[in-house]
Amino acid sequence: MAQPKAGAFQGVRALSHLGIAVKSIESTLGFFEGVLGLSCEHVEEVSSQKVRAAFLPLGATRLELLEPTAPESPIARFLEKRGEGLHHIAFEVEDAGAALEGAKAQGVRLVDASPRPGARGCLVGFLHPASCHGVLVEFVEEP
Ligand code: CO
Repeated sequence: MAQPKAGAFQGVRALSHLGIAVKSIESTLGFFEGVLGLSCEHVEEVSSQKVRAAFLPLGATRLELLEPTAPESPIARFLEKRGEGLHHIAFEVEDAGAALEGAKAQGVRLVDASPRPGARGCLVGFLHPASCHGVLVEFVEEP
């Protein structure tokens, strides 16, 4: 394998979170808190995606419950087509822009050509599931 260039994408470094599409965050907490014993640490609205996101930490990673706030939200469309369920897997990266460019350079189809603001003050960008063996992949750069 060729030596990576300085500033080039070095690979993902941790599992940031698992994103789960739900109709209502409140109605899921009986399961995620009551049955699994997790606790909801933080809820915020991500206006760019028209969702509310709830974060439930677990060890070094977390679950992200996503509830649509508008009918045109990508999460609303996902719920219509597939119902509730696992929506995406998010990997922490050093530099989301470099990660997206690195993936594109290897022929991966991108959802986001460049990073945009996500929840928790992070920069995020998505790869298309058609290029990722059916998995919607998110890159997350921590603030
Ligand atoms: Co996410």
